Amino acid sequence: MSVSVNEKERIFKLDTPNTSYIIAIMDDPGYAGHVYYGKHISDEDVNYLLRTGESPFVPSGNKRDKISFMDCAPFEYPVHGCGDFREAALKIRTEDGYCTSELYYSGYSISGFTDAPVPGVFGDNGTVLTIELKDKITGLTVELKYIIFEDSDAIVRYSVIHSFTQTLYLERALSASFDMDNEDYELITLNGTWARERYIDRKPIAHGFQGVYSGRGETSHQHHPFMGIVSKDCSQSRGEAYGINLIYSGNFIASVYEGQFDNLRILTGINPEDFEWKLEPGESFATPQAVLVYSSEGLGGMSRSFHDLYREHLIRSPWKDKARPILINNWEATYFDFNEEKLLAIAGEAAKSGIEMLVMDDGWFGNRYDDNRALGDWTVNEEKIKGGLKKLVDGVNALGLKFGIWFEPEMISPDSELYRAHPDWAIAVPGREAALARNQYVLDMSRSDVRDHVFKSLSDILDSANIEYVKWDMNRPLADLASLKLPADRQKELSHRYVLGVYELQDRLIRRYPGLLLENCSGGGARFDPGMLCFSPQIWCSDDTDAIERLKIQEGTALVYPLSTMGAHVSDCPNHTVGRITPFETRGYVALAGTFGYELDITRIPEADRAMIPAQVKMYHMYHELVAAGDYYRLASYSENREYDSWMCIKKDKSEALLTYIQVLGRACVHSRRLKLQGLDPGKIYRIYRFDMESVSELPYGEDKAYHGDSLMNAGINMINLWGDHKGVLLHITELS
Ligand code: GLA
Repeated sequence: MSVSVNEKERIFKLDTPNTSYIIAIMDDPGYAGHVYYGKHISDEDVNYLLRTGESPFVPSGNKRDKISFMDCAPFEYPVHGCGDFREAALKIRTEDGYCTSELYYSGYSISGFTDAPVPGVFGDNGTVLTIELKDKITGLTVELKYIIFEDSDAIVRYSVIHSFTQTLYLERALSASFDMDNEDYELITLNGTWARERYIDRKPIAHGFQGVYSGRGETSHQHHPFMGIVSKDCSQSRGEAYGINLIYSGNFIASVYEGQFDNLRILTGINPEDFEWKLEPGESFATPQAVLVYSSEGLGGMSRSFHDLYREHLIRSPWKDKARPILINNWEATYFDFNEEKLLAIAGEAAKSGIEMLVMDDGWFGNRYDDNRALGDWTVNEEKIKGGLKKLVDGVNALGLKFGIWFEPEMISPDSELYRAHPDWAIAVPGREAALARNQYVLDMSRSDVRDHVFKSLSDILDSANIEYVKWDMNRPLADLASLKLPADRQKELSHRYVLGVYELQDRLIRRYPGLLLENCSGGGARFDPGMLCFSPQIWCSDDTDAIERLKIQEGTALVYPLSTMGAHVSDCPNHTVGRITPFETRGYVALAGTFGYELDITRIPEADRAMIPAQVKMYHMYHELVAAGDYYRLASYSENREYDSWMCIKKDKSEALLTYIQVLGRACVHSRRLKLQGLDPGKIYRIYRFDMESVSELPYGEDKAYHGDSLMNAGINMINLWGDHKGVLLHITELS
C-alpha cells in the first residue's frame, strides 16, 4: 500500500495490494484528470491516457474550442457550468444565482489516517491523500480525499467543500466520480421492493444515463447505493469488476453515463434532488464516503474486498467478531396478539432448545394493538405485559435467555399521546395534509429537541430492565418534506439533516449502552447499507423469511456485505409471505448464512420441527465462526440457473471450509451434479464431511477419501441428487492434519 507523487509531472498514484489508481493534473490550466483505475501497474507516468495531446487539446492550445475539451476530458471531480455537459459531481449557486465554477489544482498533502467522524471507515493503518482544488472566482475550495489501508484493496473517497469568502449553495455535492473508457462493460445494480430486496440486475452499458437512486429519505427497498461495472466475461471467479458503494443511509444516486466519445462517467453521492446545502463564509461540507473496489478476479474478488473492508474498517460494534446470541423473535409468532404469558411460554420452550435470547417485537407499548396507532408512546402497555417490563425481563432471564426489544424511534402515529402533544414534530408542509404510510408520520429527526425526547424515551425503557438487544425499525419513507425549524433557504437540507440526526441518535445510543447489540431494520431491508453498519453489526435483511426467496435476497446482499451482517431467521410454514412449504432443515441452512435465529411460535410448530432446533443450535455453534469471518465464494446462483444454489465460506488460512448446497428443484432421471469448489489451497489435502442433522455429527461425504485442493477446484465433486424440492446439504471441508 502506498501513495506516490511525481511532483514534477503532478501525478498522484495510489497503490493497494492489487490495484492502482492514478490522478494527474492536466498541464494547463490545472484541472484534475482521472488517468487510471484498475489492476496494479508499475508506472505512474501513464498520463498519456488523458489524451490532452490529442484534438481538441487543452484550452491553452485551443482557446476557441474550450467547450469541446471540457466536454470530453476525463475529470476526477467534474463541475457544472463551464462546458462539461455531462453530469457533474459539484454544482454550486452564488447569492447572485450564478451556477458556474471551475476547479484548478492548488496543492496536496499526505497524512496518516485518523478516524473521520461516523459514519465512515476507521483504522490505524491507513493513509490519506488530499488533493486541493480551487475556484478562483468564488474562492470555493474542494478537498478530494482518498483513504487506503495496508490490508485492503478498497479506496475510500469523499470530498470536503469549503466556502471562505461568500455564501454559496451546494446544489449537488457528490462523493466520488471518475471517467474511463467503456470497454464493453456491463452494469450490475441491486433492485427490488418490500420482501424482495437486492435482486441482482445486469445489463450492457449503453449511451446516455443509467443507474439507480433513492428519493425516499432512506436507501430503500427499491434500489441500492451500489453499482458494479463489469467486463462482459465477468463471472464469480474471472473478469474485471469495479464496485462502488456509498456509506450513506438516505437519498443517493449511483449512475454511469456513456458520452459521445464512448467514455463513461461514474458518479455516486447524495441524490441532488431534494438536496441543497447553504455554506456561509468559513463553513465546510463533508460528503459521505464512497467505497471503490476493483477486482481482476471477477465478482467474487470484489465481494471479498468489500467484506474485508467492512469487517475490519467499518463495523465498530464490540459484537462484530462475537457469536451473536441465537434469538427468537415473536413477530411472525404472534404479531400484535401477545401478552407476558405467551412470551414466557415461548421463552420457556426456546430455552429448552438452546435458544439464547427472546426479542419482543412490535406491540408492547402504548395502545399498540395493531399497526394504526401509538408510535411515539414508548411506555409499556401493562394490559399486555402485566406486572411491567422488568418483571417480564427478569422472568425471561430466569429461564436462561437474554432479552431484546423492538423500537421504531423515528415515527409518530397520528393516534398517539406524542402527536397530540407535539403535532409539529411530524414532518409535514404547513397547510397541507401530509401523506400517511402504514398510518404513520415521520418525526423530524433534524431537530435536536425531537432527538432528545426520543433518546430519553428509549433510555428510560433500556434503563428499566436488563435489555441487551434493540431492533431499530423504520417503516415508511419520507414525503411532504418541511421542517418547522429550518429557514426557507435551508428547507432542502432536511433530508440530509434527517439522516445525520438518525446517525447522531444511534451513536448516542451505542455510546450510552456500549454492550448493546443493535440490529437495524426498515420494513425488512430498506436501510441495509454501510452507513447503518457503522452503528449496528447486523441488519434485518428482509421481511421475507421464506428460505427459497431468501436465496436470491441473500445472494444480492452478500455481493457487497459480509454474511455476519445479514439478519436471517428460520420461520414457520407455510411461509407467511409467499405460502411456500420448505423442510425445516433447509430453512436452517439458509438462515445459517446470516446471523441465525428463529421467528416462529415454538410452542405451536410441528413436534418434528421443534425437535430439530437443538441440532440446528449446535450446527450454528459449530460453523458460525467460518460463516462470519471466512472468505465468501459463490459457486452457483439459483437466480441464474433456476435449479440450485451454492456458496462456500473459507477460513482465511484455507484449512477449513463450509459449503452449502440447496437443491431448489428436483429433476427426474439425472446423475449427480458436478460442482467445482473455489478458494481452497490447491496444494493442501482435504477431507469432506456432511453435517448430519439426525445424529448432530459429521459423516464422511461420498467415498471416505482425501482430495487435493486443486482436484476439488478443477475437477470438482459430485453433489448427489437430493430427491425432492428445497433440499439442502452442508459440507465441512477440512485440511488433513
Ligand atoms: C417491520 C419489520 C418486521 C416487524 C414489523 C413490526 O415490517 O421489518 O420485522 O418488526 O415491522 O411492525
